[in-house]
Amino acid sequence: MAGRIKDTDVAYVRDHSPIDDVVGDYVQLKGAGGGQKKGLCPFHDEKSPSFHVTPSKGYFHCFGCQVGGDVIAFIMKLEHLTFTETVERLADRIGYTLTYEAGGTTTGPSINRSRLVAANLASATYYQEQLQLPQAQHGRDFLTKRGFDRDAAKNFGVGYAPDEWDSLYKFLKGKGFTDEELMLAGLVKEGTRGPIDRYRNRLIWPVKDISGDVVGFGARKLASDDVDQGPKYLNSPETPIYKKNQILYGLDMAKKEISKTRQVVIVEGYTDVMAAHLAGVTTAVATCGTAFGDEHIRIIRRLLMDADAFRGEVIFTFDGDAAGQKAALRAFEDDQKFVAQTFVAVEKSGMDPCELRQANGDAAVRELIARRVPLFEFAIKSVIAAYDISAPEGRVNALNQVAPLIGKIRDASLRPEYVRLLAGWLGMEVDIVATAVKRSGSRAESTQPSQVNLTDPILVLEREVLKVKLQISDLASSWVDLEPNAFSYPAYDSLRKLIDSADTFTTESLLEKCDSDEMKSLVTELTVEPIRTDGEVSDRYITSIFARLREVALTRAIAEIKSTLQRLNPVENDEQYQEIFGQLVAMEAARRVQKELALGEA
Ligand code: CTP
Ligand code: MN
Repeated sequence: MAGRIKDTDVAYVRDHSPIDDVVGDYVQLKGAGGGQKKGLCPFHDEKSPSFHVTPSKGYFHCFGCQVGGDVIAFIMKLEHLTFTETVERLADRIGYTLTYEAGGTTTGPSINRSRLVAANLASATYYQEQLQLPQAQHGRDFLTKRGFDRDAAKNFGVGYAPDEWDSLYKFLKGKGFTDEELMLAGLVKEGTRGPIDRYRNRLIWPVKDISGDVVGFGARKLASDDVDQGPKYLNSPETPIYKKNQILYGLDMAKKEISKTRQVVIVEGYTDVMAAHLAGVTTAVATCGTAFGDEHIRIIRRLLMDADAFRGEVIFTFDGDAAGQKAALRAFEDDQKFVAQTFVAVEKSGMDPCELRQANGDAAVRELIARRVPLFEFAIKSVIAAYDISAPEGRVNALNQVAPLIGKIRDASLRPEYVRLLAGWLGMEVDIVATAVKRSGSRAESTQPSQVNLTDPILVLEREVLKVKLQISDLASSWVDLEPNAFSYPAYDSLRKLIDSADTFTTESLLEKCDSDEMKSLVTELTVEPIRTDGEVSDRYITSIFARLREVALTRAIAEIKSTLQRLNPVENDEQYQEIFGQLVAMEAARRVQKELALGEA
């Protein structure tokens, strides 16, 4: 890679990437008053928006999970990119060519996202053409055997990687791509005599990101195991543009339907996605060679969001096997936030959607999805299935196994419902089931992370003053007059010291000095949080909150001084007593002034 990106270029890219635009690519933002925007946080699960963006400042902050920063921090965090990668990506976005400072290794041109996407796209086209050639007959046969005709293959861009060492490599070199770019894109790998193709004699599925850019490939083995000892499916390695934890195959095609119908179907592979879409289940997506994880669910939830709430259904087509059941049982241990929206569709015969479509046609696939059951129901029933509930012993044993699970359901309103259902499934009295659930122990209460108590008017006041200082420093002229004990909340006091540790500050310079994530988070939080006035932020309001804060601080200091005086004997310590008494009088006078200022009477 080339050297360091020039600082002036970083600044240019940051200044020309409006934060609300960039965030808007991922999060639906709506006006929040005062020039602010808000939406559902992409960094944690939530149902009502606490993710705020202040376009005028170029900062974001989530009041739910305390993540905040500028536009670069946003993309770094969300896309898991390095600083350099992020700046490159933002530069691409606005069509700006970056300059690198010499000093780094200078092997060829710099690599950016669009080059890697271009290399992937060229490969996809190449593979597709190869599928039409006579030597790809066995690839076309495979597709036919799976129930996919020519049109289907074309729609999904399916291709064929020839049974050669370096045919793709040569093709892409001819198109002007460098070795470095092709390596980085994961299209070729180092062989003993130079770069060789990553995929060989395999059927190829181009994998697109949510925006439709080809970012990688899934490649199915066509040769028998003794000829090709590789895995059945080879997937792209991690590259700057392919992060398997965030990739969902089919998402580019399905995203509109997912948002519209508020439903997403998670299937298990490339062929399942194809089969589902062809059968009319157009909300189907699949992970690529990895488990469905937190990053995936986050992406899905963003699509299922209204402006304010997550509604809709996430339907998993679990295998009916032990692994699927184990996965389902984890539901009781998870945070259960979205469990009410999670469903399972299981085909008893164990067929996956692709096999089901071949065996029983398109309607069977649609019916499988229509027969979905809530995740809890599926999990409970799969436990019960291990017992012979035709015998009393079997029923009691099953009850003893399942009762603790129901106790773990966090949504209290769901528990009696499942007690009733369980009684039905086991053929037992509701009362008996209810007692068993109660006996199995009470669930652990979920705890909220401790937060500043924002109903305490003094803390609110301290916070307002800090916000004014951070957001409109020019108008905070009384800042220098604040008493040393002005901030009673330790984190606020630390922030004040940070601000005062230099003559001037910017949000950036403060963030650099922070020694903890909590502190950083506080900085962005207070930079972004709206100032609490009814109308505009007037001089009068600012004067009044500073004065009020000083009044409170002076009151605190006066109380301390009085208690000191009480402990002194005026006769024995006359001089000291007089001095402190003088301070007290001065403080009380100062407090009167601040009080009048605070009330707007000065
Ligand atoms: N998979 C993978 N690596 C493997 C096997 C499977 O990444 N070695 C992933 C692929 O995404 C695959 C999915 O898991 O599409 C499902 O695997 P499987 O059910 O074994 O394959 P099918 O999709 O049913 O495909 P086929 O008809 O080709 O056997
Ligand atoms: Mn399968």
